[in-house]
Order: sequence, then C-alpha cells, then structure tokens
Amino acid sequence: MPKIAIFASGVGSNAVQLIKYFKKSANISVVLVVSNNKNAGVLQLAQKHFIESKVFLNEEFEKAFSLLDFLKAKGIDYIVLAGFLRKISPLLIEAFHDRIINIHPSLLPKFGGKGMYGRKVHEAVLQNKEQESGISIHLVNEEFDQGKILFQEKCKVGKDVPDLMRRVQELEHKHYAQVVNEYILRKQ
Ligand code: GRF
Repeated sequence: MPKIAIFASGVGSNAVQLIKYFKKSANISVVLVVSNNKNAGVLQLAQKHFIESKVFLNEEFEKAFSLLDFLKAKGIDYIVLAGFLRKISPLLIEAFHDRIINIHPSLLPKFGGKGMYGRKVHEAVLQNKEQESGISIHLVNEEFDQGKILFQEKCKVGKDVPDLMRRVQELEHKHYAQVVNEYILRKQ
C-alpha cells in the first residue's frame, strides 16, 4: 500500500482534509506529518488523528540526508506538500522523482515562484485586476512552482482578499485529496 508523508508549515487545513480522505481509502495511507515549524497547528491535528508527526527545524532540512533516511525508514512512497514554506532539497527531489505533489493557490504559471505564498498570492491577483483565480496541483521539481501541472480549477476573484482566500480554499479542500489519490493510483 503506498504511504504518504504530508509536509506542512502552518494551520494544516489541507493536511486534515488529506488525512480524513485517506483514512477511508483501502489503497493509500497517510502515515506521517513532517513540519519545519514546531508550533505549526498541523502537529496538533496530526495527533488528533493519530498520525505520527516529526519536526525537522530549518537547519535540519539543510541536512537532507537525515530527513531522507527518516522517510526511507518509514517506507514513505509519496510526499504531499500542504502549505510547506520551505524549498525541497535536490536530494529529496531526486529520491522522490515525480512523487512529490504540491498545491498552489493561483492558476500557475501566474502568481507563482519564490516568495509567492499565502495572502501575498491573493493580493497580487487582485492588484493585477484578474477576473479569475483558482488552484493548481502540480509535481515538484527544482524550480519553485514549475513542475508539471496535474490539475487546475478556476473561481471568480470575489470582492477582496479574504473573499478570494475563502473561494480558493474551498476548491483546495474539494479537490486536493482526490487529485492526489488519482495520481498515485495511476502511477502504481
Ligand atoms: C494553501 O493555500 C495552499 O494552497 C498553499 O498553502 C496553503 C496552506 O493552507 N500551498 P493550510 O495550512 O492547509 O490551511
């Protein structure tokens, strides 16, 4: 059975959707939550759902070897990023080639790249007077937000940043787990 590790730095609303979705799956399981932030809300959520969690602080992420060893020891097959605010090392990208998936809160290639995360993305979308935004679920390669796009869904921008964030989050929660599921099943 393929095993997923979720990587997250923050609240973890997407992580919890993934955890709930795969709890019901007979084919794929979420076995680990990794964070680079010891205060991340996602760690409590993992505990609540009886998923093992592990913190690698930022300086430890530099030493990708120990993280890679840990993931191997846990038998991890796929890494799913859910608000993970740190660049994935080339070592990990090589070891998990085409097996790291990310979700980005805009219609890539628009509004992606270094420094484009969270609220900043939505502010840029509105400042640019876009009519629509949405989500992009993509594979992770060496370049920020430039891996192969697996899925996109659009929404109207709405009236302000909180409204746009809410619309995008709704799409994230609706689609992410399902797209990850389909991708992994296709690859098996
Ligand atoms: C989401 O908007 C996701 O697209 C981005 O980071 C955010 C994570 O939010 N990569 P949450 O912690 O899952 O609520």
